[in-house]
Amino acid sequence: MSSEMRIKIIKNGPYLVSGGVPLYQQVIITDDAGHTRELVDEKEYPKQETYTLCRCGESKNKPYCDGTHNDIDFDGTETASRKPYIDKAEVFEGPELKLTDAYEFCDHSRFCLRSGGIRKLIKESDNPEARKTAIEEAMICPSGRLVLWDKKTGEAFEKEFEPSIVLVHDEQKKCQGPIWVRGKITIESSDGSEYEARNRVTLCRCGKSENKPYCDGSHWMNAEQKLKFRKKWGLD
Ligand code: FES
Repeated sequence: MSSEMRIKIIKNGPYLVSGGVPLYQQVIITDDAGHTRELVDEKEYPKQETYTLCRCGESKNKPYCDGTHNDIDFDGTETASRKPYIDKAEVFEGPELKLTDAYEFCDHSRFCLRSGGIRKLIKESDNPEARKTAIEEAMICPSGRLVLWDKKTGEAFEKEFEPSIVLVHDEQKKCQGPIWVRGKITIESSDGSEYEARNRVTLCRCGKSENKPYCDGSHWMNAEQKLKFRKKWGLD
């Protein structure tokens, strides 16, 4: 029988995954206007009870760790704040929907930019089309930065995920994206404490995030691009 599904972060090393967590690769699909829309399966990896996923970005045997992190003196220091999601999130309210938005989780997979962006859509959430698009955009957000709530019921719109890991392939940006952890799998820090278990989070696998262990978009954005992005979407 499998043990509890768990991801243990090894100090300056890989993610040690145990409990037979299914592992997939999915590619981000874009529409004709260039907006990212959904993720579809590219590959399912052979089932393994335990495996180690590269966190430094330099393994020659990706997605698995091959020990290269030792040769490059990888600094995998975990810098993310341990506050619960809800305490990190800003709140945006529209007529029917409420959005909680914790920018520091953002993996920059850009699903929330269609039709003027989710913050604009929230303001129009008494319009059925705007409401539908906002719900789609929030539910597909891999990082869990965005959570949308029905103001009438107080319930969040969340997809029920099989606990699993997805290696995201960002074809539009011509690179590999983060490790998408779905279905509230426990993530244990290298110091032995646990991160908040969430339905959706994205972990860094390029080694460059400034918000480790979470992804911050550094796999395709440099500091200047991050600044531009924040300005463009009024995040400053
Ligand atoms: S973390 Fe071990 S090779 Fe990248």
